[in-house]
Amino acid sequence: MVTVKACANIALVKYWGKRDSALNLPAAGSLSLTLGALVTETSVEFDRSLAEDELVLDGAATDNARVTGFLDLVRDRAKLPARARVTTENHFPTASGLASSASGFAALALAASRAAGLDLPPAELSALARRGSGSAARSIFGGFVRMRAEGDAHAEPVSSPLIDKVRMVVAIVGGGAPKSHGSRDAMEHTTQTSPLYKAWLDLVPKDLAAAEAAVANGDLEALGEIAEGSSFAMHACALAARPAIVYWQPPTVSLLARVRELRKGGTAAWATIDAGPHVKVLTTAEDAGEVRRELFDVDGETDVIVSEPGGPAQVVS
Ligand code: PMV
Repeated sequence: MVTVKACANIALVKYWGKRDSALNLPAAGSLSLTLGALVTETSVEFDRSLAEDELVLDGAATDNARVTGFLDLVRDRAKLPARARVTTENHFPTASGLASSASGFAALALAASRAAGLDLPPAELSALARRGSGSAARSIFGGFVRMRAEGDAHAEPVSSPLIDKVRMVVAIVGGGAPKSHGSRDAMEHTTQTSPLYKAWLDLVPKDLAAAEAAVANGDLEALGEIAEGSSFAMHACALAARPAIVYWQPPTVSLLARVRELRKGGTAAWATIDAGPHVKVLTTAEDAGEVRRELFDVDGETDVIVSEPGGPAQVVS
């Protein structure tokens, strides 16, 4: 049995749309920060006596075709017919837009490949994790991570003088209840019906180049502005789909307003939102306490977590 820990990541330049749905290949690149406070722990054991794969998610036996499909990829590669016993715990709300699929499939990719006797190099592991969930490719690595659109779309870590300085404050809305639309279907729907999808695809490479430069130069203000803009553009694109995809709830808007006020007052704070109502705020170690206090004050949030950058997915036993 192999046990692995992997951290979730939050995209600063968002991934939204695929060039190949079957292989789960993104239409554009993305850039993220791995978060040490959002951890998934997963154990995998292949056992020839099992008739079916068994999955226990957060203590409850669960049927999950996506997990079985993913394990089939590992079995094919390792030429291993045995079914697997998988136990996975998210130390934060699951499937609510807090990137549990990123840490979940990164952890599953590493645990299942090792349990099947494979020792994949990081880029191959990242491309494997991508098959489970696009954003999972980035959770194989720690710190700032870039995922390219081309080739097998694996991710790679990017070094930055900002790494000891940045923090992410995560304001949870609605108690982390499951999100309204899964990102997979919502992306597909946006691609097919949003009149803004083409504009979105034109924007991403520009944001990505500017964000990579900001990460390399240690320019947090430039990075924050791009991150907030990328998130608004992704949501604008999804909101314009027909029918609209709306992830925001009233507290989401209140939190966004508070982030703007903080920034006006000189605090380092830039907001980003994923496929859920939560607001994540890029800030500094210095300002994280104040950001947390201020977001706690907003009606409708149910918890506020401060996270340091996290490390790569790793085998713990
Ligand atoms: O990896 P998926 O299929 O759950 O999609 C992730 C989508 C966003 O979280 C909204 C953006 C991103 O780049 O992580």
